[in-house]
Amino acid sequence: MDAMTLLEERRSMGKLTGPAPTREQLDTMYRAALRAPDHKELTPWRFIEITGDGLSRLGDLFAEAESRKSPGIEAQTLDTARKKPLRAPLMIAVIAKVAPDVENVPKQEQVLSAGCAAYAILLAAYAQGLGAMWRTGHYAFDPTVKEGLGVSEQDEIVGFLYIGQLGGRHKLLTERDPEEYVERWT
Ligand SMILES: Cc1cc2nc3c(=O)[nH]c(=O)nc-3n(C[C@H](O)[C@H](O)[C@H](O)COP(=O)(O)O)c2cc1C
Repeated sequence: MDAMTLLEERRSMGKLTGPAPTREQLDTMYRAALRAPDHKELTPWRFIEITGDGLSRLGDLFAEAESRKSPGIEAQTLDTARKKPLRAPLMIAVIAKVAPDVENVPKQEQVLSAGCAAYAILLAAYAQGLGAMWRTGHYAFDPTVKEGLGVSEQDEIVGFLYIGQLGGRHKLLTERDPEEYVERWT
């Protein structure tokens, strides 16, 4: 796919089905991620690839997070949380692995860099004809989920990338006019 077409046409796909991306497709996605802009080459990212039983384990973690947050929560809400990761055959949790106290590279920059890596994964998925969607919900910020995934307090889950085969039609692109967002200093 032509690079400009990719950049102008990439969109999210929430309805995803199996099979999961192949190892080669995933490798291509990770290679794209590793080209994210990265001040001082800190490589401030980590990827947790989740498939099969791992998706159910993550669902259990989401449910545990809900019940710790709201003890006595309805069973149906817990069930909904448990099923969330099952919306794709594969998920990649993108973690910002933050190196503290690096001169001129504050945490924000490292989180942005991990965010760029996440976006590169979305682009590489789309370029390979796969569907993908970046989600955080409140789970990405939840201490129970962070702990369960082995993410330290100072690190951040920048997103859960749901990836699979297109399970429906792409939604229409929202038309946006760059002129509404651009100011010029001349
Ligand atoms: C950091 C981040 C977190 C997001 N979290 C969610 C989410 O939890 N649920 C959701 O429906 N969309 C979420 N989105 C938005 C979708 O991924 C998607 O970008 C949006 O629906 C617009 O669709 P598009 O990517 O096709 O333009 C998130 C986007 C970003 C950048």
